[in-house]
Amino acid sequence: MRQPLVVANWKMNMTSPEASVYCQRLRTLMQETTTPAEVVVCPPYTAIEVVRAAFVGSDLAVGAQNFYPAPKGAYTGEVSISMLKALDCRYVIVGHSERRLRFGETAETIGEKVKVAVEHGITPILCVGETMSERSLGMTEKVIGQQLLTCLKHLQSDQLAQVVVAYEPLWAIGTGRSATAKDAAQLATYARQRLQRLMNGDTDAMRILYGGSVAPDNIAEFAAADGVDGVLVGGASLDPDKFQAIARAYEVK
Ligand code: 13P
Repeated sequence: MRQPLVVANWKMNMTSPEASVYCQRLRTLMQETTTPAEVVVCPPYTAIEVVRAAFVGSDLAVGAQNFYPAPKGAYTGEVSISMLKALDCRYVIVGHSERRLRFGETAETIGEKVKVAVEHGITPILCVGETMSERSLGMTEKVIGQQLLTCLKHLQSDQLAQVVVAYEPLWAIGTGRSATAKDAAQLATYARQRLQRLMNGDTDAMRILYGGSVAPDNIAEFAAADGVDGVLVGGASLDPDKFQAIARAYEVK
């Protein structure tokens, strides 16, 4: 059984004082739920320490949104994986479409990041997704398949299960227009099939999330979707009440 995973991607939101208020509220709210999901908050770098400290002694975990894959040195403005490790980051988002589009991140760099994260025991959450025009051309599976293969090519088969894949169709991000749970389930099945050979036939351990306009009013369908092990939440994760409602959808009824 794969444990469900509910991840907040705050993107470039929340100062550290705002993060502190948020975390206190989230901690209190989480006491009301018996959700079996692992709940993770990925703040901007500047708030990681605040979130880490606020979650000590709880089941909540902190993660990061990015890092640079060199060990250390002259990389002004960048943050290494060891720096994230020292802040107890359990997860790191890699290859988000905003990084690919706005910061020119290539599949090659993303592949390197995935490898470095795994080698340091931090779970990469690898984002993949198609554009609306790729979708209308019927290319969704081809595009996702290619993204998966190029970004995961540096890993040994036993390392692949340590990666979390997040299917985030670009047209669903921040648009209020999510994919359907059926789309997400189909894509999860396809991704597992595509990775079957690389993982020596055993794709059961790999977690696959859905992201893109997830909110309290549509989470029930994603929580029930076959083979979809959780969600990566942007906008709705900025409100602790909404984020908790999303985590609660995984409670066993
Ligand atoms: P929204 O939930 O705001 O659509 O963002 C999704 C996302 O990009 C999470 O990484």
